[in-house]
Amino acid sequence: PAKRLTPPDIAAHKGQTPLVCLTAYSAPMARLLDGHVDVLLVGDSLGMVVYGADSTLAVRLDTMIDHGRAVAGASRHACVVVDLPFASYQESPQQAFRNAARVLAETGAAAVKLEGGSEMAETIAFLAARGVPVMGHVGLTPQAVNALGGFRARGRDAAEADKVLADARAVSDAGAFALVIEGTLEDVAREATRAVTIPTIGIGAAADCDGQILVTEDLLGLSGPRVPRFVKRYADLGSAVEEAAARYATEVRSRAFPGPDQLYRKRSG
Ligand code: KIV
Ligand code: NA
Repeated sequence: PAKRLTPPDIAAHKGQTPLVCLTAYSAPMARLLDGHVDVLLVGDSLGMVVYGADSTLAVRLDTMIDHGRAVAGASRHACVVVDLPFASYQESPQQAFRNAARVLAETGAAAVKLEGGSEMAETIAFLAARGVPVMGHVGLTPQAVNALGGFRARGRDAAEADKVLADARAVSDAGAFALVIEGTLEDVAREATRAVTIPTIGIGAAADCDGQILVTEDLLGLSGPRVPRFVKRYADLGSAVEEAAARYATEVRSRAFPGPDQLYRKRSG
């Protein structure tokens, strides 16, 4: 089998064919996606998608490590990146290194992702210089939902646009190997992509980014009826799950399930 993609392989994609990235939280999903994507992100969006919270703020490092281990263990092609959750890295470069090192050592993932721009540059440089590849994340950064006042797209006025651009440059200059740009006006994402030397991975950003990412449950129709504008539905597995559950319920109630094929019986004759 071909060797697993590494953070330097991902970095080398700048200006090449678009990087295909998806989230994965579990072993079965990682197995299904691994052959089709370049990056599997164990996103802290799992706090909302899997655990039903209305923000990502309460996700714990141990939870990210458990899901990260499942995804890294069930994949062999994609570069696996694990989100550092809120309050696990913002305090200091040292805190960030201590927790990022646990993620790499305990999951088998190759890199971590953290949110923030200029204010995180020192931390990104500290990690990158000490063997921890970092993916950045600017624009709409969900861990800052309280400071931003909601999940609204960024870069709508000149000051916000300049801030997103300055953040992208700071993350790239600090030594990140790739950069997620989320929920940003198209022009701003396009300009940020031109302005930095690392691949940009867009989500609600621009088709000109060096790659795209979506939350897998969103594109599969598994995350409920309300999804952000930037989501495109590629399947309606939510309906498939409901139909299967309804058929199972009918068959249990009518005693059609279990049938002879599902039962252990003594062989006759
Ligand atoms: O947590 C997540 O899923 C993410 C992606 C949407 C970029 O950070
Ligand atoms: Na995230």
